[in-house]
Amino acid sequence: MFCLQVLVLWCLQLMLPKWTLAAPTIPNSFFYQQYLNGKVNKSSYYNNVNLHVDSALSSVFALRGGNATLPCRFWYEPELNSPREVRIKWSWFPVAGGPQTDVLAAVGSRSRTFRKFRGRVRLRLDFADDVSLEMTELRLNDTGRYVCEVVDGLEDKRTTVDLELRGVVFPYQHPLGRYYLSFLEAQQVCEQQDATLATFSQLFHSWEDGLNWCNAGWLADGTVHYPISQPRAPCGGPGLAPGIRNYGRRQLTHHRYDAFCFSSSMRGQVYYFQPSHKMNLTEARQACEEDKAQIAKVGQLYAAWKFKGLDHCNAGWLADGSVRYPITRPRRNCGPSEPGVRSFGFPPPQEKRGVFCYKAEE
Ligand SMILES: *[C@@H]1O[C@H](CO)[C@@H](O)[C@H](O)[C@H]1NC(C)=O
Ligand SMILES: *[C@@H]1O[C@H](CO)[C@@H](O)[C@H](O)[C@H]1NC(C)=O
Ligand SMILES: *[C@@H]1O[C@H](CO)[C@@H](O)[C@H](O)[C@H]1NC(C)=O
Ligand SMILES: *[C@@H]1O[C@H](CO)[C@@H](O)[C@H](O)[C@H]1NC(C)=O
Repeated sequence: MFCLQVLVLWCLQLMLPKWTLAAPTIPNSFFYQQYLNGKVNKSSYYNNVNLHVDSALSSVFALRGGNATLPCRFWYEPELNSPREVRIKWSWFPVAGGPQTDVLAAVGSRSRTFRKFRGRVRLRLDFADDVSLEMTELRLNDTGRYVCEVVDGLEDKRTTVDLELRGVVFPYQHPLGRYYLSFLEAQQVCEQQDATLATFSQLFHSWEDGLNWCNAGWLADGTVHYPISQPRAPCGGPGLAPGIRNYGRRQLTHHRYDAFCFSSSMRGQVYYFQPSHKMNLTEARQACEEDKAQIAKVGQLYAAWKFKGLDHCNAGWLADGSVRYPITRPRRNCGPSEPGVRSFGFPPPQEKRGVFCYKAEE
């Protein structure tokens, strides 16, 4: 039986056009099984019917914790008289590179979701041939390119949709100073600050919004860049046009830079807290806990500034031991004339300050 299957597969492959063989897809074992079991009307597959797959959008923007629908539909030309059972597969290429990951597979009414997508994705099926992917509880690390693939017998067509989260990019430096982080460490510091390494496209959108930063930082794909909106001497020179300076792909373990982290909206609230007195870092942590909260992470402060308009002209402790304050309405004695999160770096932990706390519930 096994030999017979192999033989038939081999014969079928000989009949396929070249592009099908080149397509990086798993063999369509569903079809072959049906074919071998005689459930497929062999003559009808050699008619001139073309399968088409398309998406109404090439990219979809969403918020962390929110939902997104990645559109995808398929149809035949000419139209079919009777519906056929097709196999749908959604897969995902992480922005950071890395292997293609299965998201969802479906045949008829049966479907299966995989790994980190389990229980968070399903096909929309709003109308015949709608195989859009509905996603819930989006995470920062769900961004990337999604592939919608429809397989009908010998035909295999696909389209892609990029999922991007709306958010905020912030540069992050190690407490010991500039250019201390390997790629892996950069990934870790962003995660510790409730963020993820930014993608190039996220950095680009932030640069369009005015991000101007003269230190080079890691991005999610292992490249190193920095965004300059106001060219000046030490940042590539005043003669160079504004833009994103590119150091290209760097050696992930040996080269050291800062990081560009990305955070998106979040549930909960960040607020400035200063009981009756100012506090050292230890006391600041305790004060938040006594207020049934936690000392805020840098990504949470940026998200609150960006999405909730947090504006407070007193600097406060944050979880990583840095001291910062968020300004949405620039004014005298509150830093530069642009909105932003101002940083005092990492002062000695005995210094007395207020604190920013984060409460998960509003
Ligand atoms: C297979 O399809 C052809 C053309 O669509 C049709 O004429 C034939 O009757 C079908 N055979 C079976 C067994 O369904
Ligand atoms: C996301 O979808 C779920 C169920 O599909 C719904 O309960 C929830 O309210 C939606 N969330 C948002 C933010 O729209
Ligand atoms: C993705 O993010 C979630 C929470 O936001 C986290 O639990 C998970 O470990 C992350 N996965 C990867 C591969 O980074
Ligand atoms: C903060 O002050 C407390 C006393 O209130 C002291 O025990 C603690 O060591 C101090 N921590 C730092 C980091 O200075």
